[in-house]
Amino acid sequence: MKIKISLLLCLALSLTGLAQKFDNLAETPPMGWNSWNKFACNINEQVIRDAADAMVESGMKDAGYEYIVIDDCWHGQRDENGFIHEDKEKFPSGMKALVDYVHSKGLKFGIYSDAGTETCGGEPGSRGHEYQDAITYAKWGVDYLKYDWCNTGTQNAEASYTTMRNALYEAGRPVLFAICEWGDNQPWEWAQDIGHMWRTTGDIYPCWDCEEDHGDWSSWGVLRILDMQEGLRKYAGPGHWNDPDMMEVGNGMSQSEDRAHFTMWSMLAAPLIAGNDLSDMSEETIAILTNEKMIAINQDSLGVQAFKYNSEDGLETWFKPLSNGEWAVTFLNRADEARDVEFNWKEHQIEDPDFDYSVDFSNTTFEMENVWKDQKLQNTNRTLKAKVPSHDVLTLRLSPKK
Ligand code: GLA
Repeated sequence: MKIKISLLLCLALSLTGLAQKFDNLAETPPMGWNSWNKFACNINEQVIRDAADAMVESGMKDAGYEYIVIDDCWHGQRDENGFIHEDKEKFPSGMKALVDYVHSKGLKFGIYSDAGTETCGGEPGSRGHEYQDAITYAKWGVDYLKYDWCNTGTQNAEASYTTMRNALYEAGRPVLFAICEWGDNQPWEWAQDIGHMWRTTGDIYPCWDCEEDHGDWSSWGVLRILDMQEGLRKYAGPGHWNDPDMMEVGNGMSQSEDRAHFTMWSMLAAPLIAGNDLSDMSEETIAILTNEKMIAINQDSLGVQAFKYNSEDGLETWFKPLSNGEWAVTFLNRADEARDVEFNWKEHQIEDPDFDYSVDFSNTTFEMENVWKDQKLQNTNRTLKAKVPSHDVLTLRLSPKK
C-alpha cells in the first residue's frame, strides 16, 4: 500500500510538472573537491576520509570549500530488486558510514552516476533505475550528484537529465545536480531549470596549453578549456553555472600556471572543485587554493562571469563585474616570455557585451588592490605599468573611490 501511494505520488508530481530543481543550493559557484583528476578509479573509503580531514586541516573548509565528491568507480552491483550498492572491498564500512563521517566534519557529500547504461568507467549506470538510485542516495545522505553521459546511445539529453532531476526531487533530500555531458548538447540552452551547473567541455588535463589524445577522445589543457568558454557567459548566473571542469591545481603544472588557472576559474565564476590530493599538498598549492581575495571574486554575489576585453601578443585583459560597482581585472600572460602591461585607464570605456554593466574610467576613479600580492596600489588616475611573468596573471580589484 505504502509503495502504491508513493508511486501514485510520483506519477501525480510528474504529470502536474511539480517536480523541479532544488532551489538555493548554488547561489554562488559551488566549492569542493572531487576524486577523479588525481585518483581516477583508485579510490576507497580511506582516500575519501583523508580528503575530508585535509579539507578541514588545510584551511580549505574555512576558505569556503564544502563538498567532498566521489567520482566514478565506487559501485558494486545492483541487487535482485535493482538497488545499487557500494563496492564492499573499497568501502567496507559502507557508503552511509562514509557520508556520516564527511557530515561529521561539517562538510557535504557528493556522488557520481551516469545517465546511460554504464558509467564511463564501466560501472552500472542509472538508466532505468533513476528513481531507485535517487532513493538510495537520499538514504545515504548524499548532497550532490554529478551525472555523466557515457553509454547513452540515442537518449535525449534534456529528457534524461530531467528524469534524474525529478527523481532527486521526489526522493525529497536537497541535492545539487551537476550535469556532465561535456557541452555536447548545449546544456546552457536548456539546463537552467534542471541542474545547478553543467560541464561546458570535455575533460581537463594538467597542462597549460595541450591536447592529450586518448584515441577516440581528447582531454584539454587549461588555456584550451578557457578558450572553449567563449560565448557562454550569458547563460550562467546564480543557481546555474557554466562548469569548465574540476581544477588541476597541485597536479603538476608550475606554480604560476596553477595560479593563473585558479585565477581564470575564479574570474569565470566557475565551480571551484579541487582535483588534487588534499592530504599531500605543498604550502604553495594551499596558498593558491585558499586565497581569500581571489575566492571573494569567484563567490561575488552578482554571479557574472568575466569577459575578455582585449588580447594582444599573448596578453589578455579580462573584466569581471562585481557587486557594489566593483570590478575585478586580470591580465593573463599566455606567452612563453614576460609581458609588459601599460594600461592608461582614462582611455578606456568598458562595456559588458552581454549584461548591462559599464565603466568609463575617464570620469570615474577607482582604488586598486593587487589581489595576489594583497597590496594597495595607486588609483586609476595613473597609468598602470607592470610586468606579468610568463604563464602568470596580474589581478586587480577595483573599488569606486569614496
Ligand atoms: C568522464 C567525466 C570525468 C569523469 C570520468 C569518470 O570522462 O567527464 O569528469 O567523471 O568520466 O569515468
